[in-house]
Amino acid sequence: MEYKYFKKLGREVPALGAGTWGIGGGYWTRDTSGDEEAIAALRTGIELGVTLIDTAEMYGAGHAEELVGEAIKGFEREKLFIVTKVWQTHARREDVIKSAEASSKRLGTYIDLYLLHWPTSEVPLCETMKAMEDLVKRGLVKNIGVSNFSVELVEEARSCLSITDIAAIQNRFSLSHRVDEETVIPYAKKEGMMYMAYTPIDKGSVANNQILKKVASKYEKTPVQVALNWLIMIEPVVPIPKASKVEHMKENIGSVGWSLSKEDWDFISKSFR
Ligand SMILES: NC(=O)c1ccc[n+]([C@@H]2O[C@H](COP(=O)([O-])OP(=O)(O)OC[C@H]3O[C@@H](n4cnc5c(N)ncnc54)[C@H](OP(=O)(O)O)[C@@H]3O)[C@@H](O)[C@H]2O)c1
Repeated sequence: MEYKYFKKLGREVPALGAGTWGIGGGYWTRDTSGDEEAIAALRTGIELGVTLIDTAEMYGAGHAEELVGEAIKGFEREKLFIVTKVWQTHARREDVIKSAEASSKRLGTYIDLYLLHWPTSEVPLCETMKAMEDLVKRGLVKNIGVSNFSVELVEEARSCLSITDIAAIQNRFSLSHRVDEETVIPYAKKEGMMYMAYTPIDKGSVANNQILKKVASKYEKTPVQVALNWLIMIEPVVPIPKASKVEHMKENIGSVGWSLSKEDWDFISKSFR
């Protein structure tokens, strides 16, 4: 595994994380039909160095967090980096506290990074941020961050904080979804924050891309590995593909430990514009 150090986290994390939206089978509702396979995929990932796991209280109505809790049992806690999120309808102070406590219970551990899942106009941002900061004071949460935020909103969130800072931003970013390329990503880099790229393989569709297939054959890699490598080569990006199948997890891990040439990186980059 390759690692990336982030000043705002004060530690390094793997260059590739694991997403969990829909693991076990349910996206918005609890579904246990795929639990065994999902736990096996996450455990394989951890064994091979994918120790950053992204989840949320909304995924599978809490079940994704339970599966993460199950999958991490027996692994050294300090080596893991568990990310979860509070849903925006729980952005009121008392709800943030309740949500974090419930997430921590389902995970069976503290939270390394706690994110506000989406911005909301229903609750003043500072109310949510100050509640999240209090969770850090309590030690239930180690770091806080935001998701689906613009630079302006991140700045607003930061202005609410006194003893902590926004350590990470999680937004959608992939070869075909590049909104943040000139905005949030350079900002996160300048500020020493981690940028987690969600839906990084466009729901698996990059596997069939002809341009990626052509480049991949040069490196004896797969199109998904090339797409992830392209992302990993951008600082401070950590892609978090979701793989509920063991073979997908193993394939995704083949995206680390090598680099596209500058020419190929540029060629792919231009081809997807
Ligand atoms: N903050 C937010 O608002 C937000 C929004 C969306 C997602 N996220 C996070 O980001 C994570 C990733 O995004 P995502 O789940 O939307 O999409 P994604 O990671 O781009 O794609 C996941 C899909 O790709 C498939 N897949 C994985 N590895 C593959 C491979 N090597 N070859 C072919 N297909 C492969 C998976 O199949 P299998 O599962 O069958 O292996 C799954 O169907 C989420 O799980 C979640 O943790 C955050």
